[in-house]
Amino acid sequence: MLYVLDKQNSVLGNFIKEIRSVEVQNDPLRFRKNIERIAQVMCYEISKTLNYKTESVKTPLGVAPTNVVADKIVVASILRAGLGMVNGMLSLVPSAKVGHIGMYRDEETFEPQEYYCKLPDKIEEKLVLIVDPMLATGGSACDAITRLKDRGCKNIKFMAVIGAPEGVSKVAETHPDVQIFVSTLDRCLNENGYILPGLGDAGDRLFGTK
Ligand code: PRP
Ligand code: URA
Repeated sequence: MLYVLDKQNSVLGNFIKEIRSVEVQNDPLRFRKNIERIAQVMCYEISKTLNYKTESVKTPLGVAPTNVVADKIVVASILRAGLGMVNGMLSLVPSAKVGHIGMYRDEETFEPQEYYCKLPDKIEEKLVLIVDPMLATGGSACDAITRLKDRGCKNIKFMAVIGAPEGVSKVAETHPDVQIFVSTLDRCLNENGYILPGLGDAGDRLFGTK
């Protein structure tokens, strides 16, 4: 199931415009802040699909029943660029544990190469929210999901800021049980596997490597 969050207008559009803009991208503080704010908004939207339980809270005047999130959450960040989304997620779900899956795309084959994986204990009992700003060919997303399933995870949602149709189809076909959330869905990939119109290389923008 695919959710495209900017189908409904919201301030998300303002943040997405800024991360795409060649002028605004030159301001690293603003780029990072916008990725974080987008993750925050996405987390809020995804929270509408979580499980809830009712808990009572004592107010100065009585008792109020309140629905609170019942799922135990792990935010799994695909390195490097997924790191940019973690703080935005944790600002809304501060009790979430954080996992890291290190992957880079081979520049010629676009195949993901894993170089690191550190996941919280008992992750198989938790809801895993994978974060990565870019869903391009879908190779990194599919491999990260497979890695988590190998660890016993059954409840996984995937979040990307910008998705390409090719990547969305690949994840949906390979892992039909995983809900996919993108802030916005772009046109296609170019011959170098970059999303069009996209924003360029998210990792390089976040960390100033190029
Ligand atoms: C980018 C991005 C995704 C991946 C998406 O990472 O953050 O992880 O590419 O591409 P795909 O859908 O075709 O797999 P990259 O491999 O450039 O590594 P980086 O985050 O370290 O820059
Ligand atoms: N990774 C990025 O950072 N950007 C793209 O457009 C595709 C993959």
